[in-house]
Amino acid sequence: MPRVMYQHAIITGASSGFGMAFARRLAGACAHLVLVARRGAVLEDLRRELLAAHPGLEVSVHVCDLADGGQRAALVESLQELSVGSLLLVNNAGLGDYGEYAESAPERNHQMLQVNVVAVAELARALVPRMVAQGGGMINIASLAADLFIPDFAVYAASKAFVASFSEALRLELRSAGVPVVAVCPGPVHTGFGDVARRKGRTNGYSPFKKWFYTPVSTVVEGALRALQRHCPRYYPSLRIRAAAFIVRNVPLLVLRWIMGRRPRRVSAIQEVEQ
Ligand SMILES: NC(=O)c1ccc[n+]([C@@H]2O[C@H](COP(=O)([O-])OP(=O)(O)OC[C@H]3O[C@@H](n4cnc5c(N)ncnc54)[C@H](OP(=O)(O)O)[C@@H]3O)[C@@H](O)[C@H]2O)c1
Repeated sequence: MPRVMYQHAIITGASSGFGMAFARRLAGACAHLVLVARRGAVLEDLRRELLAAHPGLEVSVHVCDLADGGQRAALVESLQELSVGSLLLVNNAGLGDYGEYAESAPERNHQMLQVNVVAVAELARALVPRMVAQGGGMINIASLAADLFIPDFAVYAASKAFVASFSEALRLELRSAGVPVVAVCPGPVHTGFGDVARRKGRTNGYSPFKKWFYTPVSTVVEGALRALQRHCPRYYPSLRIRAAAFIVRNVPLLVLRWIMGRRPRRVSAIQEVEQ
C-alpha cells in the first residue's frame, strides 16, 4: 500500500462507491477527513465506522448538494476554516445519464454539468492556493469516457473530457510548486453509478462491457494514490483499460467515428425491451 500522508483529505461523493473506498483507505494516512455528499445519514455511519477503526482520526461530515451553487459556496467557505497543514482534494462525486440526448431531462443535464464539471473547477480554485502554500495534491475522477464521444452518454463523456483536460493543464501549472494532480480514468466498475445513471422506467439495456472488463473499486483507489505519489498525469486501472485508452487515442478520428457510429446502442436495446 502506498503511504500518502496529508493533514486533511476532502473527499466528495464519500457516501458510495469510489468515494467511500477513498475515505476508508485515507483514514489510515490522513489526520482529518472531510466527507462530502448529499446523504448525511450514510456519511454519519461512515464517520462512526472510521472513528472506531482509527482512534485519533478527525472526521467532518459536510452534507452538500454539489449541483447547488449556494451549497457549494457554503462548503468552500467552511473549507477555508481548516487548520494549517497539507491538503488532498479528491474530486470524486459524479453522475451519468444513459440514453439519447433528445430525450434527456434538462434538469438532469444541468445537475450532471454542475457536479461533474463546475464543482470540480470551483473546489480546485478554492483550494489550490492553499495547496501551493502548505502542500497538497489533487485526485480528479475522470473516466475512460474522457477520451471518447459516446452516443447515449453524450453529456457524461463530454463532462469527463473536461475533467481530464483540466487536470492535465492544472498539473503542469502546479508542477513547480510540487503539487501533484492526477486524472483517474476507470472503465466500468461496480458501484452505485449504473443505477443512478439509468433513466426512470428504463433498463440499462445492452452493456457493451463484458464481465472481465470491470475493475475492482480497490484497484482503482490504490492505483490512484500510487499515481498521485508518482506525480503521474493520468491513471488507467488495469492493462485492459490502458490498452483500450491507447487504441482510442491512437486510432484516426475518422475510424473512431465509424466505430462509435456502429457501437451497440443502449437506446435501441431499451426500445426492444419496451416493445
Ligand atoms: N463506476 C464506474 O463505472 C465509473 C467509471 C468511470 C468513472 N466513474 C466516476 O467515478 C466517480 C464516483 O462514482 P461511483 O462509481 O463511485 O458512483 P456512485 O457509487 O454512484 O457514487 C457517486 C457519489 O457521488 C455523489 N454525488 C452525486 N451527485 C451529487 C450531488 N449532487 N452532490 C453531492 N454529491 C453527489 C453521491 O453521493 P450522494 O448521492 O449521497 O449525494 C455518491 O457518493 C464519478 O465521478 C463517476 O463519474 C465511475
